[in-house]
Order: sequence, then structure tokens, then C-alpha cells
Amino acid sequence: MKVLVLGSGGREHALVWKLRQSSRITKLYCAPGNGGIAADAECLAVDVKSLDSLVQLANRLNPDLTVVGPELPLTLGIVDEFQKRGWPIFGPTRAAAQLESSKSFAKEFMQRHHIPTAKYSVCATNAQVREALKLFHAPIVVKADGLAAGKGVVVAQSKDEAQRTAEEMLAGKMLGEAGSRVVLEECLKGEELSFLVMSDGERVVPLVATQDHKRVFDNDQGPNTGGMGAYSTNHIVDRQMRDWLVAHIARPVVAGMRAEGAEYKGILYCGIMMTATGPMVLEFNCRFGDPETQPIVMRMESDLLEAMEASIAGRVSDGDFRWSPDPAVCVVMASGGYPGAFEAGKLITGVDEADRLPGVKVFHAGTNRRDHMYYTSGGRVLGVTARGKDLPEAVERAYDAVMKIRFDAMHYRKDIAARGLKHLRAGK
Ligand code: AMP
Ligand code: GLY
Repeated sequence: MKVLVLGSGGREHALVWKLRQSSRITKLYCAPGNGGIAADAECLAVDVKSLDSLVQLANRLNPDLTVVGPELPLTLGIVDEFQKRGWPIFGPTRAAAQLESSKSFAKEFMQRHHIPTAKYSVCATNAQVREALKLFHAPIVVKADGLAAGKGVVVAQSKDEAQRTAEEMLAGKMLGEAGSRVVLEECLKGEELSFLVMSDGERVVPLVATQDHKRVFDNDQGPNTGGMGAYSTNHIVDRQMRDWLVAHIARPVVAGMRAEGAEYKGILYCGIMMTATGPMVLEFNCRFGDPETQPIVMRMESDLLEAMEASIAGRVSDGDFRWSPDPAVCVVMASGGYPGAFEAGKLITGVDEADRLPGVKVFHAGTNRRDHMYYTSGGRVLGVTARGKDLPEAVERAYDAVMKIRFDAMHYRKDIAARGLKHLRAGK
């Protein structure tokens, strides 16, 4: 069986690495891939922003399955294009992917289906913002409606700041088309949780829960990033909470999308805030998380290919996933300056040595390979991931591996999974 994975980040390396363990796959392609993925799959150049070039590539390779990593091709309608041609592809259609591509759609959908989320208001003009702000107390979260690669959310500390931020978004100064409408939201407090489920359009099965680390610096300081690290343990949500999240969030979303004529297949990523009054949805993503996927695949003992096929065929069941009880931790190593401007082309040393440590896998995000050497090519460079018999061991293994790796101006957070360790010490 031939499988094509689309994308080029740490998430895609993790998916490729896991799919490679599937005995039924005889040929694995990744487009465009990166320097590390090249060791696990044949990488082919493609522009993931162009549906035409993706269709041309698939026409040439004729894969038995295509797996889409990033949101952009999904929100452009790659699944619709492939389905029209009868080509098997894993993920939601363009209409279903609106849960991620339009925050106002997601909020209005949640309201229609009684899914717990922060109070909000959708505004298209400065005057509407001024009127709506009367109903909010500071701090207020201001979000651009469309895709903004993690840069479309500002927590404003005052109504003045909220008004200014919304006006800049609406004027297109900050985010272009993505900011043509804004969503104002009540600011929620609590711990965040990334809760991913596999859906076949009707049934859903949860993956193991993870926690992301969005801010660039330790102790959640500094600007938001795509994610500086993630971990997964059985302690993040207990069975009762997991069942609650499925019953009150994941299943109603999938049932609601079906009822509205936009069947949701693939991964539904629910970004949740665990507030004092219960879990609330912050956002939906229509794909696997990055870096959440790295610890998830490290714990997955079942065949990912089969679960993806079950999603496409409409036969997802609880038996699709088997998980190791061992926790996993991913520490992202980033280029100096990220999430702002950074330089690429720095030589990376120590990757192979780190990869050989017990329980460790180094996933590549922004690297390329020349003359048997790795060089940096992106903001997030590596996702150093480790599994251990308990969380302290997984953390220690991940950071031991990080210590082997060097590149000019690299930086990483030193507190990935610290919250999990704290809960463990507190005995909860
Ligand atoms: P989003 O893209 O909607 O998930 O927002 C990105 C990040 O902004 C989230 O992961 C949270 O850290 C933060 N955020 C979004 N919405 C809220 C909210 N209503 N209250 C507090 N923080 C939020
Ligand atoms: N780590 C957050 C995301 O994948 O959107």
C-alpha cells in the first residue's frame, strides 16, 4: 500500500514515523517533508497552498491513502477535490473544516448546539465593537475570524486596548482577510487541555489527552507560539472526565455537523480550558496538533493506518487505539528569535546521538539535510520526544537528549510538563 503524507513539520514527521510501523505500507511519501522526514519517507517538493499542485502530485503518485497534516489544504478543500476523484484521503471537507477556519462559525455553531464555550460577540465594524464591549469586563480576548497561524488572538487588559486591537484587525493592518470580522470573548481562567478525537462522521474515539505549552518562555511568559512542547500522561484527564468531554463536547460537535449537512471526518482537536465551573471550548482545529502529535504517537501501540482507514470507511470504534500507560514528553528546540524573525541555515549537531538514547525519538520540524549534515530551516527546529515508565523519567530522558543537541542561537523551554510533575507531587 502507498501512503502520501502532506506537510513539513514535527507533526508530519511523527505521523510518518508512526505510519512506517504499519506492516501494510510498502511505500511512504511525504510532500514537501523535511531533512529528518527524508530518513523515513521519500520527500517530494510541493506547494501545500496550491490545490492544483497537490492534485497533480497525487495524480502522479496514485497513493492508496493521503493524510493531510496542516489546516491550510483542508480549509481550501483538498478533501472535496480528492473525494470528487474517488481518491482516499483522511480529514474533513472544506465545509467541516470551518470549525477551524472561521472562529465566528465555530462560536455560533457551539451556541446552536449548547456546547460549553466563553461568552462572545461577533463584530464586523468598529461601531459594533464599541457597542459589544459594553457587555464585557476586562480582560477581553480579541480574535481574528480567519486562520492567522496562532497570531490572531490578543488578550486585551482594558476595553480601550480591546477596541484598538479589534479596529486594527478590522482595518486589515494586522492579519489581512483573516481579520475582516472579529470575535470578542470573555477571558477564561484555568489549565488548558488538548483533547483530540478520531471521528468517522458519526462515532468518535478519544486519543490520549495532552497539554501544550504555547508561550515562548518558561512559566508561560512571552508571546504565543505554535507550541514549545507538549506532554501526555494518563493523569491529565481521568476516565470520568474523558467520558464527559466525549459526551458533552466531541460527540455533540460531530452530531451537530452531521445534522447541518457537513459531516465531520478525521481528527477533531478540541482546545479546552478547564475552568472552575467546568470545561469550556477555546477553539477547534480540524487536524492533529503540533507538537501534541509527537507525544501522542510515542504512546500509541495500535496501528495508526487502520484507525485512519476506519475514519474514512465510517467504522471508528473504541478498539481502534491501544495506548502505552507510559507518559511521553516533547521539548521543542527553536531558532533564536522565534516566534519573531529568525535566521536559518545553522548547522545542527548531536541529533543522531540524542536519537540513540533509550526511549527517545527526535522529530524534525524545520531542518534540511545536506552532505549528511542537518541545518535549521524553520522557527521550530526539532521536537525532542521521550517516553518513560513515569513522568519524571520521560522528562529526564527528553532533557538528556536535548543536552546532546547544539545549534547557534537555539532556545527551548526548561519547564515542559512541570505542571504535570507538580500535580504528581501533590498526589492528584
Ligand atoms: P485559539 O486560537 O482560539 O485557541 O487561541 C489561542 C490561545 O489563546 C489559546 O490556546 C489560549 O491560550 C488563549 N485563549 C483563547 N481564547 C481564550 C479565552 N476565551 N480565554 C482565555 N484565553 C484564551
Ligand atoms: N499546538 C497547537 C496547535 O496545533 O494548534
